Amino acid sequence: MCGIVGFTGPQSAAPILLQGLKALEYRGYDSAGVAVMDGGSIRLEKVSGRIANLCEKTRDGQAVPGCTGIGHTRWATHGAPTDINAHPHLSNDGRFAVVHNGIIENFASLRDELTQKGYSFVSETDTEVVVHLIEMYYRGNLKTAVMKTVSRLEGSYALGIVCTDYPDTLFAVRQASPLILGIGAGENFFASDVTALVAHTKNCIYLDDGELAELSPESVKVYDCAGQEIKKSVNRITWDLEAAEKGGYEHFMLKEIMEQPAAVKSALTPRIKNGEIVLDDFDPDGSLLRGVSRIVITACGSAYYAGCAGRYAIERLSRIPVTTVLASELRYDDPIIDDGTLLIVLSQSGETADTIAAMKECKRRGASTLAIVNVVGSTIAKMADHTLYTYAGPEIAVATTKGYTTQLAVLFLFALYAARKLGRIEDAQYRALLRQLKELPKKIQQAIDMAHSTEKLAQKVHKAPSLFFIGRNTDYAVALEGALKMKEISYVHAESYAAGELKHGTIALIVEGQPVIAVCCNEKLSEKTMSNIIEVKARGAKVLSVAVQGNRQIFSVADDVVCIPPTEQLFTPLLAVIPMQLLAYYTAKANGRDIDKPRNLAKSVTVE
Ligand code: F6R
Repeated sequence: MCGIVGFTGPQSAAPILLQGLKALEYRGYDSAGVAVMDGGSIRLEKVSGRIANLCEKTRDGQAVPGCTGIGHTRWATHGAPTDINAHPHLSNDGRFAVVHNGIIENFASLRDELTQKGYSFVSETDTEVVVHLIEMYYRGNLKTAVMKTVSRLEGSYALGIVCTDYPDTLFAVRQASPLILGIGAGENFFASDVTALVAHTKNCIYLDDGELAELSPESVKVYDCAGQEIKKSVNRITWDLEAAEKGGYEHFMLKEIMEQPAAVKSALTPRIKNGEIVLDDFDPDGSLLRGVSRIVITACGSAYYAGCAGRYAIERLSRIPVTTVLASELRYDDPIIDDGTLLIVLSQSGETADTIAAMKECKRRGASTLAIVNVVGSTIAKMADHTLYTYAGPEIAVATTKGYTTQLAVLFLFALYAARKLGRIEDAQYRALLRQLKELPKKIQQAIDMAHSTEKLAQKVHKAPSLFFIGRNTDYAVALEGALKMKEISYVHAESYAAGELKHGTIALIVEGQPVIAVCCNEKLSEKTMSNIIEVKARGAKVLSVAVQGNRQIFSVADDVVCIPPTEQLFTPLLAVIPMQLLAYYTAKANGRDIDKPRNLAKSVTVE
């Protein structure tokens, strides 16, 4: 996720900004830049790649004079990670510079409007509209111009702004993106998180949504969204640097689990406009989908399991046949793929070697390719005919969590979109499902809250030599991901079985005390899965079930139950996976594992 910093004080700004940006490096980024007020003009320095490149270019900031400035680490969302797309962005008249975290959802229409009014754009970013809007609205009062600008923005933003008419002043404003003011002695700061502040001050003000701040070396003023000055309390930062990077969580994995409501919201909301799904530039008239006779989903690991879970929604709603194939298998197969095939490629990193190889092979055979990827500008994103980014933000823990759920969210959008474009869904059902989709971020939060008992339940399973995960249909897809998560971070052996398969062999492994995790969220099949639970319990198994709130019967069948909120059945995997992630996390913790960096695993598997 991008990071922003701002400084105003008696010292040279650039070295302080660079130091702040380095403290934000852990968030992940692919370019960096600073803008510093130098007399009557703004001095801009930005580079793609590491902050070290920016330090080298500016001689650790010594080559950039001036005492007030803003800085940014960009994690690309709109446009590739290039020098030009790096922040800060300048207005056409050179009077304003802006850094931005978040996503401006209505940037395309604002860009059209500004272009028609004669403003020229140099970058592909959504952010650039902000700086041109400020220029357009500026009549000598920056606060008024910023307020007018933000009233036009939809989406999320934390903005840092400088203007040549205010040589020692920073402006900052936030909406659904974090922004913290650092209060020093004769110097003041802002940053997207406290890690960039703790080296200078432990006194801070947390801005709330809609608030605007004006900072000079000697004063900090905060205004509400109507422009009235308000009093904010000054808080004391008690975290050390390492804890601050993890937002106070013990591990990145837990932080990323908790970020899922916001991450899934970022994946969904920019693509739901006026009651319709818009998949960026993918097949706006449905002509591509009308020519598709078959969909193949390919990926590795958890991304593959996201495909397995999403397959049900796509097939059921669009009625296009869908198969899921592991990329490491597909690449050496002789697949029947032709120009009637749409290949959907899932990858958080966009760099997985097996996935790239499978994609190349299918492209060679004529398939159209749609990539669902998190990392902007990655190899898979560039290779695909169409790319939908998941906007999950950087994932630092090796075991994916928000990467998986955002992939699933985009697959659900795709399923509904395809059904609509092909005329295979009634209007009322489409609207009802869209409503359910929009509620998923809120329900993920509820699922997190409902899963508090997983910490205690982990104590019951962490010493087991092996765990069983069972489920049917969509629940089976969740069981696959649950078992993988458990294995990779807790090192407890776990296997997933389609519940109906138990009788065909594996039930022989059920002995007294064997823990079984039964996913029972598919309402059409819950009776069947409950029968399987009874069968394994009769052989001594201890069953923990994940079920939909309202299923009373499950409490008399399973030993322990963790509930998820009700949603459309096809969407349940996105909620049912939450207790699976938390159970794996707490089991790994109970076993004292290196949760963020499990042994033998790498975040991005760029070799075969
Ligand atoms: C498991 C995990 C891996 C990845 C797999 C694919 O927690 O993270 O199984 O899902 O290596 O990686 P991407 O999605 O980057 O292609």
